[in-house]
Amino acid sequence: MPANRPPHLLLIGPPGSGKSTLSARLAAGLPLTIIASGQRLRDEIAQGSPIGHAIAARLAAGHFAPDSLMEQLMQNWLAAIPTGQGFLLDGFPRNVAQAVMLAGMLNQLDRPLDGVLLLDVSAVEATRRLNGRRICEGGGAPFTLHIDDAAAQQRCHERGGRLVARPDDRPEVIAERLRVYEQETRPLLDHYTAQSLLLPLDGHGTPAAVAERALTTIQKC
Ligand code: AP5
Ligand code: MG
Repeated sequence: MPANRPPHLLLIGPPGSGKSTLSARLAAGLPLTIIASGQRLRDEIAQGSPIGHAIAARLAAGHFAPDSLMEQLMQNWLAAIPTGQGFLLDGFPRNVAQAVMLAGMLNQLDRPLDGVLLLDVSAVEATRRLNGRRICEGGGAPFTLHIDDAAAQQRCHERGGRLVARPDDRPEVIAERLRVYEQETRPLLDHYTAQSLLLPLDGHGTPAAVAERALTTIQKC
């Protein structure tokens, strides 16, 4: 981690690897703006904005939003990072074209990348996590849980919340998202290895164990 400023990081990994779970834990301890592209796109859909209308069907099918739209959005999101904050992009870039476009933007902003965390889990574990993922909604700030976590379900009920599954967590869409990851996103591993930026991270184990591993890795970069 640079001594004189907070880190500039990317977080890539298959659907269900735990990117957003890890982001929340890292942001609790480091001065990082988290830009979660998938969540921000879902917010557009929930608001019924023109962008939301344009991308809803693609996301529900497990396919990416167009690169040209992501470029415009990312320009705005990066420009809004407060001075003195680092950043972690959860789920961006997703292909080599987005990586090239991001490098140009960061160069212009004079915010060089320090590392690219690759959160890796097996396809079997990613599928298990996504099949069981629910969002607790309607009881204060929404939070994500797994249906095997009885205590978290209880917490949701006590708040008066209800458990909702993401529309892209249907079994056939999970399989498609994993296929798209292998085809479109995996080539980024070579891309960032060639730039000596890739920081592989084992995503198995408890969220706390993964976060501790990530902090150790970030401190070395
Ligand atoms: P996005 O929302 O980013 O989806 P994703 O990449 O498929 O990843 P997920 O959010 O499903 O999983 P995650 O890795 O965050 O895991 P989580 O922490 O929730 O993107 C959605 C869509 O938006 C994309 O498909 C695409 O269409 C579009 N999009 C986004 N970015 C784009 C871009 N750059 N360009 C174009 N389109 C874009 O954890 C999953 C579950 O596991 C949870 O239940 C959690 O509780 C549990 N869990 C987490 N960690 C652990 C652990 N260590 N042990 C046990 N359980 C765990
Ligand atoms: Mg996520």
